[in-house]
Amino acid sequence: MTWNPYYIGDGNPRDVELATPPPWRTFPRRTMAKEFQPPEGLVESVNAALHLRRPLLVTGPAGSGKSTVIEQVATELKLGDVLRWHITSRSTLTEALYRYDALGRIHAQRLGKSGGVDDIAPFMQLGPLGTALLPSTQPRALLIDEVDKSDLDLPSDLLDVLERGEYEIPELTRYKDDFVAIRQWGSSERHDIERGRVRCSQFPFIVMTSNGERDFPAAFLRRCIRYTMPAPTVPLLRQMVMAHLNIDIEEEGLLKVLVEGFAARVDGGESLAIDQLLNAVHVISGSLSPDDGRRQYVVEMLTRELSRA
Ligand SMILES: Nc1ncnc2c1ncn2[C@@H]1O[C@H](COP(=O)(O)OP(=O)(O)OP(=O)(O)O)[C@@H](O)[C@H]1O
Ligand SMILES: [Mg+2]
Repeated sequence: MTWNPYYIGDGNPRDVELATPPPWRTFPRRTMAKEFQPPEGLVESVNAALHLRRPLLVTGPAGSGKSTVIEQVATELKLGDVLRWHITSRSTLTEALYRYDALGRIHAQRLGKSGGVDDIAPFMQLGPLGTALLPSTQPRALLIDEVDKSDLDLPSDLLDVLERGEYEIPELTRYKDDFVAIRQWGSSERHDIERGRVRCSQFPFIVMTSNGERDFPAAFLRRCIRYTMPAPTVPLLRQMVMAHLNIDIEEEGLLKVLVEGFAARVDGGESLAIDQLLNAVHVISGSLSPDDGRRQYVVEMLTRELSRA
């Protein structure tokens, strides 16, 4: 029988109610702090990074949990909301520090909207890195995601800022007022910046992630603590399924076979993400699961290798 809990393919309108989504697809998104199961050696690397005030560079394949590590650390150590900077080939260091809408300001002046008072503050906002480096009593948590996708020069530029733990906003250095209250990243809070200089007082806890698509210079690597996500073991996968879905695979023959098969494929060099396994477990263990005849087909569809489209 076809697996068709919602869509049948006959074009007839009908009222359909979707089942509750998997916990990792509920919105607004919630943190995965409780569900994350640290693989062997990760705890030591995180502690070294915290202790030494160095960024942690986490390398590993797609869906191995790189971006989730920081959620658990930030929650556990009460570092507040995670600041996120997602890197693309167009990312620049300046936009991570602050954003300034010069055109918008000129426009407002022309239209006389500012009532004759020229105020720069509404046209400026700190970026994720700029906010992470604000003076604070507790370190902030900053995720620099997919740093290997950046332009070639970005890692070295970044390193320079992280070494010094400070930066300047030239537009404010030259500004008429000594103090300007600038909006932070990811909140409506403002911070009073004096003469355009920002100096951190607690080095942020930084996780940089990489798929290993690029080699980094030794000068960059030397200043990071490095960790590579290992291939997941069956006991670790069992804990993950338990944490996300509250199902013990040891009690379900079918799921045990699925998880063991998944681990064997990863060991055999196939590129598979952990969320693919979680998807498959969620689909075959729910009340709307495919019947015996179609189960294998659906599982295969959900766990296709990632290196092939
Ligand atoms: N060790 C783990 N414990 C629990 N859940 C995990 C673990 N590793 C990965 N996951 C789950 O797998 C999913 C993918 O994780 P994540 O997005 O962090 O991977 P990633 O390595 O950043 O992937 P990408 O390179 O594609 O960005 C998430 O839903 C996460 O909760
Ligand atoms: Mg990621």
